[in-house]
Amino acid sequence: MVSRVIPVDPFDLVIFGGTGDLAKRKILPGLFIRFRAGQMPEDSRIIGAARADLDDAGFRKMAQAALTEFVARDKLDAEVMGRFLQRLHYVSIDATGEGGWTELAGLMRPGVVRAFYFSVAPSLFGDLAERLHAHGIAEPQSRIVVEKPFGRDLASAEALNAVLAAHFDERQIYRIDHYLGKETVQNLMAVRFANILFEPVWNAQYVDHVQITVAETVGVGGRGSYYDKSGAMRDMVQNHMMQLLCLIAMEPPYKFDPNAVRDEKLKVIRALEPVPPEDIVRGQYRGVPGKDGRDGKAEPSYVEDVGDPQSRTESYIALKVRVANWRWQGTPFYLRTGKKLRGRTSEIAIVFKEAPHSLFGENESWKANVLTIRLQPNEGMNLSVMIKEPGPGGMRLTDVPLDMSFADALGEEGTDIPDAYERLIMDVIRGNQTLFMRGDEVEAAWAWTDPIIKGWEERGDRPRGYDPYSSGPEDALMLLHRDGRRWREIRE
Ligand code: BG6
Repeated sequence: MVSRVIPVDPFDLVIFGGTGDLAKRKILPGLFIRFRAGQMPEDSRIIGAARADLDDAGFRKMAQAALTEFVARDKLDAEVMGRFLQRLHYVSIDATGEGGWTELAGLMRPGVVRAFYFSVAPSLFGDLAERLHAHGIAEPQSRIVVEKPFGRDLASAEALNAVLAAHFDERQIYRIDHYLGKETVQNLMAVRFANILFEPVWNAQYVDHVQITVAETVGVGGRGSYYDKSGAMRDMVQNHMMQLLCLIAMEPPYKFDPNAVRDEKLKVIRALEPVPPEDIVRGQYRGVPGKDGRDGKAEPSYVEDVGDPQSRTESYIALKVRVANWRWQGTPFYLRTGKKLRGRTSEIAIVFKEAPHSLFGENESWKANVLTIRLQPNEGMNLSVMIKEPGPGGMRLTDVPLDMSFADALGEEGTDIPDAYERLIMDVIRGNQTLFMRGDEVEAAWAWTDPIIKGWEERGDRPRGYDPYSSGPEDALMLLHRDGRRWREIRE
């Protein structure tokens, strides 16, 4: 299968925070890959803007080191790299003062798409937006890109939205949730809405429950100071997992159009019921002293990682979520995510109800159909179906997977799955907001999240300990057991 690459229009992309971690790990590598693929036109430019006192040559050197570190070796052609680095420029800028702004204004070219990536602390959004306008750099068609965390509660998200809205229209604002840029996540929409098979059974009449798992093996490591103020609920559930839930639960949009899709997602978020304490399990990973941890090393506990023995922040959370509308009445969505779990697995499992009548009699191996959408690793889908066990000896049934790994089905194109950032940055340039969160969506998500967090803070709940590289706290098992269900295994 030959992939079609349609070049985007030429652009000037200014990355505020251009020397930061995100620029090095994701933004520059993503742009490089798109440049290599022929999607980023040769006459586009990437302008790093940060406080550091660098010139173009210094920025290019930094970028080269970052690409060498973060781009797969087989994609690092020297000739392409040389051409790409020529597209890079740098302005040393003072976000809260006047330094560098005239120079930046002088660099901007008329007639090309202008985009500004705010890869900086949210407290600087207002300063940047104001100066972009004061210096005539922002135009009515310019776009700005902002990252999560978008606020830490409803009030702060509203304040951020207000700061941005004072300078930009909603159609100019691209709020990134990188989960929406993942290929399989978009495939979820394709599967649901481009096939006739699934939609008729995609409701409470046929779906017993849904499980959404985002398990990671890494701990909080060097991100402790950020993470300890967030916890799994703010870091993963309010945004990434909420987006996954929306794509599963939403009604079919009337077309694949930014507002049509986002309107439907918003309706789902607004339909989420408050979650009572008994439907929440929070956990914190324990440590392993001496040489008893993985690879014969000690494993620091969560509180050691964040340097606060009293921390009550969760590195794991499981929740039973109800979507209060006709389609989902009685079908719970179980969500779980955590650090230092036994495998790096992200998947959505749609667990269907059992067939209503067992015409083959009692059968112990009888299982309900499950549609599993694997986000990572090994992106793909799997539908378990019951068949007859081969051979004579009666009508014995067994379940087999109808497995579609994208790598197997699509060959090279299936293995070469683009990083979410590649896709999302190109969408910004194309002016397509479908895979970005609208301001009201983010606020609605916080409006649901806030009382949950406030509840456990007021109750003074402590997270349960769990062993590193386990499946999480024991209590999380109960969340499903008491409903007569089981979590799917987190594979190593
Ligand atoms: C980020 C979170 O948004 O997503 C991290 O802040 C998390 O804590 C990461 O590790 C997970 O992303 P991915 O793409 O590796 O699943």
